Amino acid sequence: MKKFWLSLWTKALLFALCLAPFLRLLWRIYRGDLTANPIEFITHTTGDWTIRFLMITLAITPLRAVLNQPQLIRFRRMLGLFAFFYACSHFATWFWLDKSFDVHEMWDDIVKRRFITVGMAGLLLMAPLAVTSTAGWVRRLGFRRWQLLHRLIYFTALAGVIHYYWLVKSDIRPPLRYAAVLAVLMLLRLAVMVKKKAANSARKPVPANI
Ligand code: HEM
Repeated sequence: MKKFWLSLWTKALLFALCLAPFLRLLWRIYRGDLTANPIEFITHTTGDWTIRFLMITLAITPLRAVLNQPQLIRFRRMLGLFAFFYACSHFATWFWLDKSFDVHEMWDDIVKRRFITVGMAGLLLMAPLAVTSTAGWVRRLGFRRWQLLHRLIYFTALAGVIHYYWLVKSDIRPPLRYAAVLAVLMLLRLAVMVKKKAANSARKPVPANI
């Protein structure tokens, strides 16, 4: 199993899988197969994939522990970057197709519509994570500080869930499902942290004068 996770092919396959929804969307645009409301269709598709990739990225750490597969960590950066990629496409769809690059209209929407405000906050929080996702930035910031910065992803995911909850008009079940997934992922993460701390303190040598 370890060999499978460490193979270059696995990473290439995952990359292709992550890109597939975008290529499928491009194909539908090319064929003009975008339902009666193309802008809404593109906005919803890219929004859906943003929140999915955020959840998948957050699932990596608990999955490593639960499945006892530490090698899974090598996919976390790619998944996080895909979340950012879909978020940028989502934002670009709105700014380009919905707002026609009108900065004033864009600003009006950001300050007047709370679901846009919180969505924008989610996107802005993702930017430093994408920039500092390289090994060079881990070295520059030091692992502890880098790790602390990257906990922002929880706030991004929370902003995404609130954004979704505030924008739906009738059926609140889909955003609530993501809220439940996020809650479970955070609890699992907490359990992993507590277990790690307990293992570390058990490993610490007992001082000789006790
Ligand atoms: C963390 C960042 C974000 C996430 C996770 C996210 C996610 C989503 C999701 C899941 C949907 C609904 C899709 C559906 O109904 O199938 C959506 C819709 C939408 N999002 Fe976002 N989004 C984010 C950021 C943004 C930003 C920055 C903007 C614009 C500034 C934006 C504008 C919109 C708009 C206009 C809609 C459609 C609203 C409607 O149909 O009434 N989102 N987003």
